[in-house]
Amino acid sequence: MAKRLFIALELHAGRREALAAVAETIPGVRWLAADQLHLTLAFLGNVDAELEQLLRDSLAELRVPEFSLRLCGVRIFRARRSAVIWAGVEDAQDGLMALHGEVLRAVAAAHIEIKRASFHPHITLARLKDAPAHKIRSFLKANQSREFGTVAIEGFTLFSSVLGPVAAVHHVEKRYALVTR
Ligand code: 2AM
Repeated sequence: MAKRLFIALELHAGRREALAAVAETIPGVRWLAADQLHLTLAFLGNVDAELEQLLRDSLAELRVPEFSLRLCGVRIFRARRSAVIWAGVEDAQDGLMALHGEVLRAVAAAHIEIKRASFHPHITLARLKDAPAHKIRSFLKANQSREFGTVAIEGFTLFSSVLGPVAAVHHVEKRYALVTR
């Protein structure tokens, strides 16, 4: 049976709590719980069992060094009918970009095709639907330069996602370690 898969960075609990603490009650804004926060490297969509095994094997072969990320800034992506509020990252060592490139190579080696959109690293904090524009503007102004600390990235995770009535539920399928520097 096919699973809906994605590959993401997990964050230490302390950083997730710091990110989730940005939440303010604003109508039309659904904040994600701290335990749902992650940084997506690649969204794969439905993958059948045979290709999933190839993917697991090719991800296990990656040798990418550990790195750290500074979590900072709060911004918005606007689409026509919806929008998300997200936290940004500073990738001073280019470790995230290196890992992203290697993960895409592993995905391609497993014969899984994904949409090659440009990579805008972000941690989604909230999803918006019909939120009042002036409240969003003042929220962003107050939080745009917020700092959430630095996080050591020691691995990445293959997740499956099960769509639910309210939100998707994410399950850890497999964790992969990066190489100690
Ligand atoms: P987002 O939360 O940053 O918007 C699991 O669904 C993860 O994959 C989410 O973190 C989501 O990103 C990301 N993702 C990227 N493209 C997606 C897509 N087309 N459909 C669903 N999730 C996608």
